[in-house]
Amino acid sequence: MTSSLKRAVGRRSASLSLADRLFSTGEDRRTAALIEDAIDALEERLSVESRFAAGLVDVVARYLLEAGGKRVRPVLAFLVAQLGDGITPDVQTAAASIELTHLASLYHDDVMDDADQRRGVPSAQNVWGNSVAILTGDLLFARASQLLAQLGERAIRLQADTFERLCLGQLNETIGPGPDIDPIEHYIQVLSDKTGSLIAAAGQLGLIFSNAPSAYEEPVRVFGEKVGVAFQLVDDVLDLSPHSEETGKLAGTDIRAGVATLPVLYLREAAVTDAEAAALLERLTPEALESADAATADAAITALREHEVTQRTVAEARRWAAEATAALAPLPDGTVKKTLIRFADTVVERTS
Ligand code: IPE
Ligand code: IPE
Ligand code: MG
Ligand code: MG
Repeated sequence: MTSSLKRAVGRRSASLSLADRLFSTGEDRRTAALIEDAIDALEERLSVESRFAAGLVDVVARYLLEAGGKRVRPVLAFLVAQLGDGITPDVQTAAASIELTHLASLYHDDVMDDADQRRGVPSAQNVWGNSVAILTGDLLFARASQLLAQLGERAIRLQADTFERLCLGQLNETIGPGPDIDPIEHYIQVLSDKTGSLIAAAGQLGLIFSNAPSAYEEPVRVFGEKVGVAFQLVDDVLDLSPHSEETGKLAGTDIRAGVATLPVLYLREAAVTDAEAAALLERLTPEALESADAATADAAITALREHEVTQRTVAEARRWAAEATAALAPLPDGTVKKTLIRFADTVVERTS
């Protein structure tokens, strides 16, 4: 695999090697080269599309873009486009819009999660405050909409539906499950909405704007949605990782913000009958973590990471990835299908 795609999809992490794992054989390499060129073009496009106004506005808008990111969603769109006429200019525009939507959501997410770090740098609100970070996210959302408006009503509708789900997911995560709702079911729905919807949309747009057969759209949508849930479950496990140089985030950000991720939900279930689990749960409340010294808080996060509930979360991510792969059955055999299957595997094995 050539170095620029590696750089594009495997930033900050030599161990990720998403590109290496996705494309390993001769025929695959031809596809890899196309995607590599498309990623290079995407970087140029993102750089142009993150210009709004001179001075600090653009500094903030480009800050997280320049800090890195794996470009997972564009890679998916470019790959799916190989089922049709390839990476057309419209596919490029759609991929840039999806990545800008994702980027914007990170500015807002870090405010909501009170995150210290993103992509290995201090989060935007940490540097410039909440108002600047929120409004920069809004600007990027506006630019993402402008790009999709170039592609017509279908693209706009898909983006609007996706954006609604993204916001609902974030909102439902914040509100939590109602009294009669199973917390784990609620949580999986949150992941589907906040993460699965955008990954699914990336695949759909790649399919639609490469003029690929419409019969492939539903399998690609389901694949993206399910792989998105797997991706987010792994993200929840990575939240517990002490390797912030790889994740670009501080360990335990979700837990400290009071987001009950799947390991915590499993621990709550276990705590009903298991005193040790109940004791660990007490050490993991946002209040307990806040008042503890750094070593004590880290020890609690480590105990959760080493607990079997975290292994169960990884197993659940694998199950979602396998379901994603199964959804690809109607696609023709060949490089695209094979690479999408590797994409699902890579999502589960990722370390950044
Ligand atoms: C982070 O997404 C937010 C989630 C939906 C888990 P990515 O892991 O794709 O973030 P970057 O773009 O590589 O930084
Ligand atoms: C990511 O959610 C943001 C969206 C999907 C909108 P998280 O809060 O779970 O992800 P990280 O860990 O901060 O990237
Ligand atoms: Mg977050
Ligand atoms: Mg969040």
